[in-house]
Amino acid sequence: MSAQDVGPEDTWYEITDETTAPSPQVLIFPERVTRNIRSAIRSVGGAERLRPHVKTHKSRDVVRLHLDEGISKFKCSTLSEAVMLVDAGASDVLIAYQLVGPNQAMLCDMIRRFPGTGFACLVDNADTVTALEREAQKADVQVTVYIDLDVGMHRTGIVPDDDATELYRRIARSSVLIAGGLHAYDGHIHDSDLSQRRERAAEARLGATRMRDQLLAEGFPVPELVVGGTPTFPCHAAALEDGMSASPGTYPYFDWGYATNFPDLPFVGAAVLLARVISVPAPGRFTVDVGSKAIAADPVQPRGTILNLPEAEAGPQSEEHWVFTVSQENTPGVGEVMYIWPRHICPTIEHYNRVAVVSGDGRISAHWEVTARGRDGIAPT
Ligand SMILES: Cc1ncc(COP(=O)(O)O)c(C=O)c1O
Repeated sequence: MSAQDVGPEDTWYEITDETTAPSPQVLIFPERVTRNIRSAIRSVGGAERLRPHVKTHKSRDVVRLHLDEGISKFKCSTLSEAVMLVDAGASDVLIAYQLVGPNQAMLCDMIRRFPGTGFACLVDNADTVTALEREAQKADVQVTVYIDLDVGMHRTGIVPDDDATELYRRIARSSVLIAGGLHAYDGHIHDSDLSQRRERAAEARLGATRMRDQLLAEGFPVPELVVGGTPTFPCHAAALEDGMSASPGTYPYFDWGYATNFPDLPFVGAAVLLARVISVPAPGRFTVDVGSKAIAADPVQPRGTILNLPEAEAGPQSEEHWVFTVSQENTPGVGEVMYIWPRHICPTIEHYNRVAVVSGDGRISAHWEVTARGRDGIAPT
């Protein structure tokens, strides 16, 4: 099944115990999550070629589903996510973020406290490298770092040129830092057309592979080159060489935005919001209990689609209300359940402390904590 098949006719999102399910809440379909994980592994040709980002689900349980499929390397953005990964049993954690200030000491502290887990972080400048060396010396640990390459997103990173190569050499020669490799995230590539996306992803990858090849030719170790997110996943999947990993994040849950923009992706929706109509102010107009505090508010409207009423048009949204319009004859009644597929699932999940897990018979059988929600890392000891 492809993302395209997950249309309104398909009722994968419906649960059988609707009447007792409070709203709004997130429903997760673990079989579909596992299907997405397996699709990702199949696409790259082996679990060792994946380093998934956990920022979408932030869940210990979803990490465990990955571990069950043989994936052991992960990427995260926050120290809370790193702690969650340790707790779930991940052995290799790349904090794909620039750690500065006291957060460097916190990383060193984690390295000391959890010797069974390999940690790494990103750097893109010499000052951060110097500061990290100082912290590592103070804590008497070695810190693995990857150079964050700017391959076109212009968010963080250093352009893969001579300066970047020199920075890598410096790290590789350091007594307290370990050169872990290169990180090339291409979150700026959003072409719907697969051939265009492929072309741009290949171009982004080229700068990184050239730099890696030069360093290898000089005898420096480059253990890993990490590339891409979910949109460019199929573009990189076929081009991964030994020592390269793909790092999609959204794919285990997937969302309406990616399914619509990138119909070639081999993933299916595995997370929806269960909502209810709370008011019908006029025929053809109804309001549901999903405001901007219950669904990601970063995309422009529509911020989601109602899977069981796809013709409904999204209108104004306030913090706890969302108004839709629809034809008079299709206007739902107060209390009716609406299944909303969010356009952007990652910040949607961030609104919830836990998600409901739907078993194969359509019942809510458990809840998963959104373990790494929030920003608390661990305090240095
Ligand atoms: C550094 C980094 N890597 C990977 C990802 C995963 O991207 P996606 O959510 O498109 O799968 C993200 C997403 O924000 C990211 O920032």
